[in-house]
Amino acid sequence: MGEQQAGRARADDGDLGTHAPTFRGGRPRGKGPFAPDPSRGTPRGPAPGRRVWPAACRTASVPEVNTQAEIDQEIEAAAQQPGGPQPRIDYAPYRSSVLRHPKQPLHLVDPESVELWAPAFGHRDVADDEADLTIQHAGTPLGERIVVTGRVLDGDGRPVAGQLVEVWQANAAGRYRHQRDQHPAPHDPNFTGVGRCLTGPDGTYRFQTIKPGPYPWRNHLNAWRPAHIHFSVFGTEFTQRLVTQMYFPGDPLFRYDPIYQSITDPKARELLVAQYDHDLTTPEWNTGYRWDVVLTGTHRTPLDTGDPS
Ligand SMILES: [Fe+2]
Repeated sequence: MGEQQAGRARADDGDLGTHAPTFRGGRPRGKGPFAPDPSRGTPRGPAPGRRVWPAACRTASVPEVNTQAEIDQEIEAAAQQPGGPQPRIDYAPYRSSVLRHPKQPLHLVDPESVELWAPAFGHRDVADDEADLTIQHAGTPLGERIVVTGRVLDGDGRPVAGQLVEVWQANAAGRYRHQRDQHPAPHDPNFTGVGRCLTGPDGTYRFQTIKPGPYPWRNHLNAWRPAHIHFSVFGTEFTQRLVTQMYFPGDPLFRYDPIYQSITDPKARELLVAQYDHDLTTPEWNTGYRWDVVLTGTHRTPLDTGDPS
């Protein structure tokens, strides 16, 4: 890792960046916080075309509802301002970032003391099958089976071996298995949406998973996140943890998404988009995407930097 950063993840409204898996019990098997709550039925959604918040969202906690057109105008205005390759941490179209972005300089912290209370790497070694998110339950999850692979590199293009790479994502219907996600899309009993692996000697990671669906969030009226997979890369200490998101090429929701657009440099945004790679496909089985994570330098992968919680 080229530089230390306090371990943190973005707490997107309706997104679960803050609620990354901790893998304390090893490979998830339908238990713990990601297990479905049997007391909750599958809520019915509004009729097509009706602009109605899901029940969990129709509360006084939504003080102001802007339209997509209003957010689009703000995104366009923000794009005219000079910006760097990393997300703006107080990006107005991304509403909550204005209220919760760090206002004081970040402090380096003692890694040993942090690891007394911070999420653990897990209580056992990383098993090879933890990189396959499609075999964690008795049945096969629904959706497009994909391979996502790439390399973790330093700023000079050198591979970073032995890195713990964690991923978490929504299912094919755009639903997280998490109590905070209550939007009316179905759970998949055969998909938890978390995985991890270690990079090989050449810095390569590889996951087998299901292509996630887009999902609504409550930034504004009819706000939808482009399909994405959350990535976490550890260094040698928890305080070096880096969190970011990988997107899929050609997503029509890119232009409407304030989180994606909070990186105002178009070339930097593109670094978050995987490439379809037909060489990764397997006949009758999976398609494939390739995406490298670059830790430092001018080609550094943009990070989730907006929220310290
Ligand atoms: Fe997400």
